[in-house]
Amino acid sequence: MSQFQFIHVEKNQGIALVTLNRPKQLNALNRKLLNELNQVFEGLRDDASTKVVLLTGAGDKAFVAGADIKEFSSFNGEQGTELSKEGHMSVFNLIEEFPKPVIAVVNGFALGGGLELAMSAHLRVASENARMGLPETSLGLIPGYGGTQRLPQLIGKGRALEMIFSAKMIDAETALGYGLVNQVVPQEELLDSAKKLAESFMKNSIIAMGFAIESVNAGLLEGSVGYDVEVQAFGDCFETEDFKEGTQAFLEKRKPEFPGA
Ligand code: CAA
Repeated sequence: MSQFQFIHVEKNQGIALVTLNRPKQLNALNRKLLNELNQVFEGLRDDASTKVVLLTGAGDKAFVAGADIKEFSSFNGEQGTELSKEGHMSVFNLIEEFPKPVIAVVNGFALGGGLELAMSAHLRVASENARMGLPETSLGLIPGYGGTQRLPQLIGKGRALEMIFSAKMIDAETALGYGLVNQVVPQEELLDSAKKLAESFMKNSIIAMGFAIESVNAGLLEGSVGYDVEVQAFGDCFETEDFKEGTQAFLEKRKPEFPGA
């Protein structure tokens, strides 16, 4: 699958290793990358030789540092809503509903859309140096790729809101304690540990796992109106002065001064 600019796929003995490959921008999710990710996952879904998918980021610094701030910094509300909606439909829901296990292999920063991507996977294995957070409020935004829904599902409402309000990162051990990741291992053992986990799953019925994924998701989707509220609210943020200041400050590498309401 070398037709992709930002994604590398390697298949071996039932395991597909999908590597997001934009290391200079810390694998930030631009539209092209998301579009490629959609194509990759659609291809793997229909590929009988793939049993388990591992999703990771290139380099030793980041899994994914979020949605591409440069790309969306001049968007208006309508474009913001569209960005969120498109991401939900084409990638994040596709991965969450994927009929075979998807393991996020978190090898460094997983921030904003990056943590949201890891949370859309069925489970997460992290390296000791991984750092996770939802920094969107520091940009005058909210998480727009499912973070307002999947983070409280995984770690509870109080901790989720603290992470969203503070915009701070947590380290891998804290994430393990919160139940945000399933395992933490030294960075040099990360991929092997994820592969071992995948191999242990492959001893069982992948078809049954597909049904388990569908059933677990069905229970959690009870309150799915939350996703629609997130999409609209994410777009609304783009019409605020706080968003303009937050994204400009990031691009100018300075601290934001939010004008507020
Ligand atoms: N978008 C675009 N570019 C990004 C990026 C992002 N999310 N994250 C990092 N980069 C770029 C930087 O601009 C920089 O590019 P240049 O060399 O051209 O200046 C390059 O990647 C390396 O980054 P840093 O120099 O900043 O590296 P650092 O080690 O000093 O800091 C970091 C690392 C703490 C992760 C920092 O890069 C950072 O804070 N990144 C942004 C994190 C963030 O706010 N993510 C949320 C995005 S919004 C979102 O995701 C919305 C949503 O829910 C849909």
